[in-house]
Amino acid sequence: MFPSFPPGQKLLLLVAVTLILQHSTTVYGSGSSESINTARPGCPDKCGNVSIPYPFGTGKGCFQEPFNVTCHENRAYLASTGVRVLDINLNFGEVRVQNPKIASQCNYTNGTNSTSFVGLSLDPFHKVSNTKNQLISIGCSMLGMILGVTKGKNQLELPIVNSCFSFCTDASNVDDSTECAGMGCCQTPFPGNISSFNTSCTPIPPIYNASIQSFSPCSYSFIAEVNSFKFDRSYVSSTNFRSKYTEGFPLVLDWVVGNGSCSEATKMGSQYACQAMNSQCINVSNGPGYRCNCSQGYVGSPYLQGGCRDINECEPPNQSLYPCKGNCRNTDGSYTCSCPSGFRSDDPQSIPCVRADPNKALKVALGMGYKKSKYFTHQLFTHCLIKNRKLLCTSLCQSYKSD
Ligand SMILES: *[C@@H]1O[C@H](CO)[C@@H](O)[C@H](O)[C@H]1NC(C)=O
Ligand SMILES: *[C@@H]1O[C@H](CO)[C@@H](O)[C@H](O)[C@H]1NC(C)=O
Ligand SMILES: *[C@@H]1O[C@H](CO)[C@@H](O)[C@H](O)[C@H]1NC(C)=O
Ligand SMILES: *[C@@H]1O[C@H](CO)[C@@H](O)[C@H](O)[C@H]1NC(C)=O
Ligand SMILES: *[C@@H]1O[C@H](CO)[C@@H](O)[C@H](O)[C@H]1NC(C)=O
Ligand SMILES: *[C@@H]1O[C@H](CO)[C@@H](O)[C@H](O)[C@H]1NC(C)=O
Ligand SMILES: *[C@@H]1O[C@H](CO)[C@@H](O)[C@H](O)[C@H]1NC(C)=O
Ligand SMILES: *[C@@H]1O[C@H](CO)[C@@H](O)[C@H](O)[C@H]1NC(C)=O
Ligand SMILES: *[C@@H]1O[C@H](CO)[C@@H](O)[C@H](O)[C@H]1NC(C)=O
Ligand SMILES: *[C@@H]1O[C@H](CO)[C@@H](O)[C@H](O)[C@H]1NC(C)=O
Ligand SMILES: *[C@@H]1O[C@H](CO)[C@@H](O)[C@H](O)[C@H]1NC(C)=O
Ligand SMILES: *[C@@H]1O[C@H](CO)[C@@H](O)[C@H](O)[C@H]1NC(C)=O
Repeated sequence: MFPSFPPGQKLLLLVAVTLILQHSTTVYGSGSSESINTARPGCPDKCGNVSIPYPFGTGKGCFQEPFNVTCHENRAYLASTGVRVLDINLNFGEVRVQNPKIASQCNYTNGTNSTSFVGLSLDPFHKVSNTKNQLISIGCSMLGMILGVTKGKNQLELPIVNSCFSFCTDASNVDDSTECAGMGCCQTPFPGNISSFNTSCTPIPPIYNASIQSFSPCSYSFIAEVNSFKFDRSYVSSTNFRSKYTEGFPLVLDWVVGNGSCSEATKMGSQYACQAMNSQCINVSNGPGYRCNCSQGYVGSPYLQGGCRDINECEPPNQSLYPCKGNCRNTDGSYTCSCPSGFRSDDPQSIPCVRADPNKALKVALGMGYKKSKYFTHQLFTHCLIKNRKLLCTSLCQSYKSD
């Protein structure tokens, strides 16, 4: 029963109702959209447009040996080899560098010009990626070679060779496509476990005879990132190749933060490189050693304390990766997706929530309603506003005593 009131006095009843009328509502989590710093505190995290995440770093105390990066006129260089850095990838343990070394040999009628046996010698924490690079050789009747050195049992150095032969007898049978498929240009995969290599190109007599030499005096060999080179038949017979690729080619290197396996590294205490909570150790297949990754649901730098930060799955740009048609709520390392109370869905991640009992819910919905009971007239004003992409509705229920 309603209590009785003095005549004319109205009873104001404030009812705040939050109606969720959109398909997906986001509940923002904490501290998510600040950019994640991947350099050591107080250290520059960029050189020009190249990001330098730890264990790489520029300046004293900013890197782990041997990941010293020097920055000169907005260009980054790996100090251990002097090659230019184009891009550092923490997730894949890769660094893309510019490989300026192109082996060439030109047998002109007036003499020979050769820069064969050129290559790179990396520190032991870097290997040339065997999956992302290849040997390419341009020329006629020419053997292109990679000569690499790997460490076998008992740290003994062993040579590894891979080669391809590029054939053509005259300009007419040089490949007319941009593929490097054997006629005038050949390619072959780069072997694994290699820190140092040389490339060479050698014309092979008697196939390489005076008539071939007269239209194709020069041949070239180089290691380049897969798909970074497109062949053109003019490269076989002119200086077009040399004048186009004066800076060399991008090359992808794999890197490790320690030379042991994960099971050895985890016992190393403060020397263990995976310093962040919510990080994990990854054994590397190209050469001995390990690197680190943030665990699933986290992102950032696993090499820094506190470096792996929770991903806010509910933040708008990430909703396509982490679907939710209901109420998305970020949790540490994951997220939940559920329907607001009174709503239901068989799968809130893909099916929008609907009112659990449409008849009941409809009355509370929108608009203005009158209800007359024996003693009171109830008038419901509903006032809605959009805030934080949510429709917030406040209902004001005014009750007048009826006579
Ligand atoms: C850096 O800038 C150069 C040209 O200025 C561009 O070719 C290169 O792709 C850029 N690198 C990155 C990582 O944005
Ligand atoms: C990093 O390498 C550069 C070039 O070799 C060298 O001058 C510099 O001293 C090194 N930095 C540190 C902190 O060792
Ligand atoms: C490391 O983490 C990244 C990002 O979560 C992921 O793409 C990558 O596959 C992970 N690498 C390994 C070896 O698990
Ligand atoms: C090319 O020049 C080199 C160096 O002089 C020489 O050894 C080689 O025989 C020459 N090759 C041919 C096919 O002329
Ligand atoms: C030989 O000839 C080539 C092309 O004609 C020229 O580039 C080169 O400098 C000459 N070499 C010598 C040693 O004269
Ligand atoms: C020939 O040698 C000179 C000097 O060693 C070098 O500058 C030039 O690029 C070479 N040319 C070719 C076609 O190899
Ligand atoms: C590197 O060497 C190790 C040990 O010999 C071998 O298990 C691994 O498959 C090699 N990696 C590659 C990419 O060849
Ligand atoms: C590459 O060639 C240089 C000079 O000929 C030599 O000192 C080095 O040992 C070679 N490296 C490899 C891996 O063959
Ligand atoms: C060079 O070899 C090609 C094919 O191998 C042949 O057709 C041509 O006659 C030879 N030229 C000379 C000058 O021997
Ligand atoms: C790892 O490096 C240390 C010192 O740098 C060296 O003593 C050890 O032999 C290396 N281990 C392997 C498996 O290469
Ligand atoms: C890494 O490799 C070692 C030995 O090769 C193995 O015992 C360990 O389980 C591996 N760890 C991971 C995380 O893959
Ligand atoms: C969104 O996800 C990506 C990768 O999954 C992550 O790098 C980024 O930090 C996330 N955004 C937020 C705000 O957490």
